[in-house]
Parts: sequence; structure tokens; C-alpha cells
Amino acid sequence: MAMTQELYQKAMKFAGEKHFDQKVPGTNANYLLHISNVAMEILVAYNNKPDFDIDFAVQTAILHDTIEDTTCDYSEIEIEFGERVAKAVQALTKDKVLPSKKESMLDSLTRINQLEKEVGMVKLADRITNLQSPPGYWNQKKIINYQEEAVIIVDSLQDKNEYLESRLRAKIEAYKQYIA
Ligand code: NI
Repeated sequence: MAMTQELYQKAMKFAGEKHFDQKVPGTNANYLLHISNVAMEILVAYNNKPDFDIDFAVQTAILHDTIEDTTCDYSEIEIEFGERVAKAVQALTKDKVLPSKKESMLDSLTRINQLEKEVGMVKLADRITNLQSPPGYWNQKKIINYQEEAVIIVDSLQDKNEYLESRLRAKIEAYKQYIA
């Protein structure tokens, strides 16, 4: 099953319009830099082993931060991309009502695990993409915390995709260079 390029383009246009005024933290780059990197990880995973629904995974990857970071809501995604994608993006969205960042993350991981493996794959791809050199303004505590979160993510999302899982484990190892 090949990827439908038109679905990719439609989701990219939607994400580009929603994230129009958002930058990647610590850079001057538009947020589509992050979005395209997450989509790229999914495409490379598919190239490695095409054993998942690439259209579903790529749309979810491109839209994964729209509800969390923009004015976009669940129903808008459902109308444009269908219920399956909307549910996936919702699961990848942290519930800001919960008392701590950690609880929000664990709650999101629980909801991700209730859906298809592609949703967990997008979470793995997201953290792989984010484990680059940390923004200059982050302190050691924040950097250590970010690495510890990544360990929880990879341990919570086992058996979603072997390739992305091992790639995230390698990124976690490499991230140790930023910890003094
Ligand atoms: Ni993200």
C-alpha cells in the first residue's frame, strides 16, 4: 500500500496554516520544521518495513500538535480528516487540566496505548525528533527531566514499531552528552 501524496499535502497545508505564527523553541525556524521532521521519521520507518497504515500515520504525524498548540479543535480535524485521525491527534494532546506535566504525559500515553500502533509510532517519532541539542536557555534539571521523560515514553510504547523504538533508544543514549 503506497502513500497518497494528496493526503500529505492537504495535512501539511492545514498544519502550516494552524501553526503559522509558531516557531521551533530555541530556533528562528517555523514550526513546520518540527512537523516535517516527525513525518520524515514515519516515512523512513515505512521504507524500512511497510507493515503499517502509512496514510493514517503520516496524517497523524503532520497534525499531531495542532490541537495542543493552536486554536484548532477535535471537531475541525474530524471534519477535515475523519474520526480516526481526530482521535489519534486527541490522544497525542496533553490534557492541560491535569495538575502536573508528568501526569499529563502519562495520561496521554495511556490514551495512545488504547489506539492503533500508528498513534504510538507518531509519539516515538516526535520524541526522536525532539532529542536534538537542547535549546540554549534550558538548564540541567530541564535537560535531565526531558531525557527521563523519553525513557518513560519508549518504555510505555513497546511493540509499536521496532525500528522507531530502537532509534529512540539510541537518541536517548546520545542525549547523555548534554548532561554534565
Ligand atoms: Ni511534536
